[in-house]
Amino acid sequence: MSKEPLFVAVSNQKGGVGKSALTVVLSSYLHFEKNLNVAIIDCDSPQHSLVRMRERDKKAAANNAYYQQLLNQQWERVKKKAYPIVGATAEKAREAADELAANGDYDLIFVDLPGTVESTGVFRTIVNMDYVLTPTTPDLIIMQSTLAFSTTVLDYVRNTKDVPLKDIIFFWNRLKKRTNVEVFKSYSEVMRELHLTVLDSTLPDLCRYEKEITHCKRAFFRCTMLPPPARQLEGSGIAELAEELIVKLKLVQS
Ligand SMILES: Nc1ncnc2c1ncn2[C@@H]1O[C@H](COP(=O)(O)OP(=O)(O)OP(=O)(O)O)[C@@H](O)[C@H]1O
Ligand SMILES: [Mg+2]
Repeated sequence: MSKEPLFVAVSNQKGGVGKSALTVVLSSYLHFEKNLNVAIIDCDSPQHSLVRMRERDKKAAANNAYYQQLLNQQWERVKKKAYPIVGATAEKAREAADELAANGDYDLIFVDLPGTVESTGVFRTIVNMDYVLTPTTPDLIIMQSTLAFSTTVLDYVRNTKDVPLKDIIFFWNRLKKRTNVEVFKSYSEVMRELHLTVLDSTLPDLCRYEKEITHCKRAFFRCTMLPPPARQLEGSGIAELAEELIVKLKLVQS
């Protein structure tokens, strides 16, 4: 019998906060380095950027002996295939996740939601997840709408019976050394006062996010078939974020 996975939406109704990039980097890290079985539902329709990233990665790997070798070594080490990435609309994400879960043994299914979640169908998707993971950046406009939307969802959950959603877990992404310290500090305080769950791990703004295996260089970060190499992982905060999530979501590595 297949086990019941944890359903986690990666959501923030603001675009460009890192939902898709982090869904992929975290999935690759958890799947290949942490022995968790992961799947992604890509709801960024109609462009489906993660489904397309997988196609790009496959093609790039097939044409490059170095990446072929890395994939072979990975296979020898973990004996695991790449995780599935399935396209769906945001309204039908839970159904798509259920279908995947019925046909495989997953520990964790990430649902990468698009930047617009204004419809009631998407609200339904969100409250039918186990958790929502919300990357946010220290930007006044982004913070205002993120907090307004998230508190609406949390109020609904508190006042409605039998809603699967347990919590919204926030974390900071794209922290720059100097420029946005003030916004970061004041909003961290506001979030504490609102009793929101905020992870200790923070992710710095780094150029390496643009590095894919399609660039034919040996340094890559964002890949759907390989976790970031140790040198790229260092200083990115991804390993720390993953460890914190494993504890918070009570994920059991098999
Ligand atoms: N910590 C980071 N440092 C630097 N660049 C980052 C970081 N996180 C994400 N990015 C980059 O920011 C850009 C936007 O990220 P991404 O596409 O993941 O955002 P999104 O929240 O999924 O947006 P949308 O709502 O439009 O789907 C991408 O080019 C991504 O590589
Ligand atoms: Mg996206």
